[in-house]
Amino acid sequence: MESRTVIEVENLTKDFHSESGDIVHALSGVSFSVKEGEFLAVEGPSGGGKSTLLAILGLLDKPSSGTYRLSGISVNELSFSQQAQLRNEAIGFVFQSFNLIGHLNVLKNVIVPLEYSRQIPKKHHVQLAFSMLEEVGLADRAEHMPHQLSGGQQQRVAIARALVTSPAVLLADEPTGNLDSRNADAIVNLLGRINEAGSTVIVVTHDQSVASSASRRLQIRDGLVWENA
Ligand SMILES: Nc1ncnc2c1ncn2[C@@H]1O[C@H](COP(=O)(O)OP(=O)(O)O)[C@@H](O)[C@H]1O
Ligand SMILES: [Mg+2]
Repeated sequence: MESRTVIEVENLTKDFHSESGDIVHALSGVSFSVKEGEFLAVEGPSGGGKSTLLAILGLLDKPSSGTYRLSGISVNELSFSQQAQLRNEAIGFVFQSFNLIGHLNVLKNVIVPLEYSRQIPKKHHVQLAFSMLEEVGLADRAEHMPHQLSGGQQQRVAIARALVTSPAVLLADEPTGNLDSRNADAIVNLLGRINEAGSTVIVVTHDQSVASSASRRLQIRDGLVWENA
């Protein structure tokens, strides 16, 4: 069976204007595609453009030029609110710094994306969020506040939150960057299990154990992408 293309980018560029007035070419013409079910690692030196690319793929930022198709939809042609809706339905995003909401307990953090979803009726929210917490091994922490958890546990909550809407793609920007090696290993295993369960996973990483568990590796250097053999 031929797998479908989930992500297709062509000639993406992104320029930033620095405070000193210089133009930084963060992406200088990036093209690649990702098929459903792939586990893609994005590697490369600091400042190479990895986070810029992931933010564009996650509909958190717009390219300066180039095209992006997500699940067959031309993102460029969507209005701001259509993009926000697509982001909510099709993208799960995990950050290096977890980004949990400090005044909400773990369960409520995982429910947040469901509250923005038009698809999933409110009466299912608690059950859905709770079953995601079971999948990341934290059902017994549902009533805890984020600050009562270790960094590794907080990142697992962030992953549960990213997956609760069953997005087409899970994007993670250095998800193990703030973790010690034991907690990082737990996250690597979790990402592998999520991928085996059918999710497309794209992870930016410096971590060799993350990269070596991926099915495919891209390098980004000086705003250009290189496919590793
Ligand atoms: N908001 C911004 N304003 C100005 N320059 C930026 C901004 N974001 C990123 N850059 C620049 O773009 C380049 C790529 O950055 P980034 O995508 O964060 O790289 P990486 O994630 O690979 O370390 C760097 O030179 C960085 O300084
Ligand atoms: Mg980065």
